[in-house]
Amino acid sequence: MPLYLEDIDNYAWNKLEAGAAAADSGFHFITLGSIDEHGHPQARTLVLRRVDRMKCVLEFHTDARSPKWLALSAHPKATALGYCNETRIQLRLCGTVELHAQGSECAELAWEKLSDNTRKTYAGPAPGSDVVSNKYHGCNTDGSGKVNFGVIVLHINLLDWCLLARDNNQRALLHYSAAGKLKNCKWVNP
Ligand SMILES: Cc1cc2nc3c(=O)[nH]c(=O)nc-3n(C[C@H](O)[C@H](O)[C@H](O)COP(=O)(O)O)c2cc1C
Repeated sequence: MPLYLEDIDNYAWNKLEAGAAAADSGFHFITLGSIDEHGHPQARTLVLRRVDRMKCVLEFHTDARSPKWLALSAHPKATALGYCNETRIQLRLCGTVELHAQGSECAELAWEKLSDNTRKTYAGPAPGSDVVSNKYHGCNTDGSGKVNFGVIVLHINLLDWCLLARDNNQRALLHYSAAGKLKNCKWVNP
């Protein structure tokens, strides 16, 4: 557990890397918040797929037909929220997304690493569309979902670290440059 402000940057990114690497890790499932086309805040759980701590980037996979993809295209500001029950640490990560659709180098690289089973999840009907027939459930309808696959890359400019401890709650704000360099950090009241 970090006790010094200068340790928090390293600690938080270690935890995020562990989250991307292991399904039982505290930050494997992340809540991604964004603004929809009506200006309404939306949130959903996503698997944290990759972390680039040098660039302060989080990567998620999704279906490019999904409402979040369309919403993020119009409003690219987003917030990722994670909470680790074991350490009682919350990470709120604010930034701007880049969307990488089929045909981009980023989406191609990510698609190559997916299992056949995961690939099939992109081949069914569009997320949020009405269920018209049970026969489509879990089926690969056109052989490949590659055309629907997309990568959300979230560039973080603010990391809000919060530890809930019985007698010593702590919170720190860390700001990053567009290149992912730590610009400043400070303690704030929780
Ligand atoms: C445990 C869990 C993990 C999920 N992981 C993903 C994911 O990695 N990518 C994704 O697009 N949706 C994932 N979902 C589904 C989303 O939470 C959401 O329901 C779906 O993407 C539609 O979101 P939207 O309507 O905001 O576009 C996951 C759901 C759960 C419960």
